[in-house]
Amino acid sequence: MAHSDTLSRFRVRPAEPQDCPEILRLIKELAAYENMPDAVQLTEEEPKIVGFAMYYYTYDPWIGKLLYLEDFYVMDDYRGWGIGTELLKKLSQIALDTNCGCMHFLVVVWNKPSIEYYMRRGASDLSTEEGWHLFRFDKENLLRMAMGE
Ligand SMILES: CC(C)(COP(=O)(O)OP(=O)(O)OC[C@H]1O[C@@H](n2cnc3c(N)ncnc32)[C@H](O)[C@@H]1OP(=O)(O)O)[C@@H](O)C(=O)NCCC(=O)NCCS
Repeated sequence: MAHSDTLSRFRVRPAEPQDCPEILRLIKELAAYENMPDAVQLTEEEPKIVGFAMYYYTYDPWIGKLLYLEDFYVMDDYRGWGIGTELLKKLSQIALDTNCGCMHFLVVVWNKPSIEYYMRRGASDLSTEEGWHLFRFDKENLLRMAMGE
């Protein structure tokens, strides 16, 4: 088989977190090749997801397109390391790159640490500053209104 035919069966690509076990296998193979099979101290550690942000886009007729932050969470043991700040940085970049005028989110009134966390980063409390309240029609209301009652 020609060299280029063989090569076309392979793909060079950047490593991804899920490649860790296979990369560790190759590290061990290389150490064996270098006659030091027991020198590898590295162990495989499953990449762990320790936080997440869930968002979607919505539209406000006054503001235009905006990014709505639905969920924002970092596991207790990993808080205070700057992971939340990194997530907010990424969300801000996404918002700007997608032409959003701002980011909206809800915080329950007793969640003082998070309220302060957002306020320290310049967030405005629209309930106190502009008097907005969040309302809901539940399914019963929807059914009743849909039936025209
Ligand atoms: C809000 C939250 C996502 C922030 O994530 P984080 O990774 O801890 O954020 P950072 O590390 O960037 O910043 C943590 C802040 O708390 C302070 N902090 C220090 N140690 C801390 C600890 N052990 N736990 C929490 N906060 C700590 C930091 O000084 C920092 O304050 P700063 O405003 O001066 O930077 C996280 O605290 C969380 O998941 N809270 C519970 C869920 C929640 O309230 N979500 C938001 C719902 S609206």
